[in-house]
Amino acid sequence: MRLKKSYRDSWVEIDLNNIQYNIEQLRHRLSHHTNIYAVVKANAYGHGDVEVAKAAIQAGASRLAVALLDEAVKLRDHGITVPILVMGWVHPEDVSVAADNDITITFFQKEWLEQVMQLEFSGRLKLHMKWDTGMGRIGLRDEKELTELLQLLNEPRFYLEGIFTHFATADETDLNYFRDQQARFEQLYQVFRANWNQPVIFHTGNSAASMRFPDVMQHYVRFGISMYGLYPSQIVKQEKPIDLKPAFSLHSRLIHVKKLPKGESISYGATYTTQEDEWTGTVPLGYADGIRRKLQGTDVLIGGQRAEIVGKICMDQFMIRLSKPYPVGTKVTVIGTQADQEITMDELASHLDTINYEIACMISDRVPRYYIPAVNEKNTHV
Ligand SMILES: Cc1ncc(COP(=O)(O)O)c(C=O)c1O
Repeated sequence: MRLKKSYRDSWVEIDLNNIQYNIEQLRHRLSHHTNIYAVVKANAYGHGDVEVAKAAIQAGASRLAVALLDEAVKLRDHGITVPILVMGWVHPEDVSVAADNDITITFFQKEWLEQVMQLEFSGRLKLHMKWDTGMGRIGLRDEKELTELLQLLNEPRFYLEGIFTHFATADETDLNYFRDQQARFEQLYQVFRANWNQPVIFHTGNSAASMRFPDVMQHYVRFGISMYGLYPSQIVKQEKPIDLKPAFSLHSRLIHVKKLPKGESISYGATYTTQEDEWTGTVPLGYADGIRRKLQGTDVLIGGQRAEIVGKICMDQFMIRLSKPYPVGTKVTVIGTQADQEITMDELASHLDTINYEIACMISDRVPRYYIPAVNEKNTHV
């Protein structure tokens, strides 16, 4: 019989109050006609999709967006009933799964639509059309493609519910490219309006655009990284258009403490050698949990102070240099706060020469997630 969720001494804590706080801050900044898609793809950027989705909906996000059909089906299987948009590409032969589960899917190719027209599915298929205004990823790019697609859409089994694009540089100082994308969107919009007279919803903004340019946001924004309490770039962090609180923290506990004499080496490759007699602690987290080997030499928190990771990070464990002999079981914080010290995802991202998005996604499912329930929803504790 399994008595606990996990037998590990390492865990992630997700504060759902902070997810709700971040959504509320954005709601105050947006105009009242702009609503929020909570972006919960990639297991809610590593935070836990079902739990985050429920908290986000309760805080006023009226819809959810994911990248994959699998992610949308999982949310439905957990009883989530709000509209869900799959922003990525879905195989034509899988549209019946979307239709059966009332999941909205993204399309942008004539051939795709022609294939779907040959297939059986029940009910109406809800669709959002993706316009590539400069991201160069997915989406139709020109007026010809747009008019061709609109002609095919006249079939009653299709319901064109929305149209969207995605900005490549909304988080940068130089906004020229962002303005170019807006202009391309406007051009396509004019063609669309000339050829389609039924109502649709428009959404263009990610976290950066929605926080920085709330006045030009349309019916919805797609709020991802900042819902989790992280700014999309250092520039937006400095501008601080809204206050954000990170929801994610990562902790562990010392499992072994020993004094190593001067001149002893630590871990694979013996890359670290003690300069004097040193207290060393072993932390049961490693690269299989997402603690990348390149993080050797960075700090964790223990006893409210910084302690350096010494020696190579192993698959399941790493070692830290201690200022004194802490007892086995002492809490170690890898991401988060202790006393007046904080290790942010931004700090780790900077060491790894990447962005905070990647840090959030890299902590593996092997580390159990525990949820601090939103104060107005005590039952979400899992
Ligand atoms: C199409 C699309 N919309 C919205 C988002 C959310 O972006 P952000 O996390 O910067 O808010 C993403 C994330 O990459 C995306 O791919």
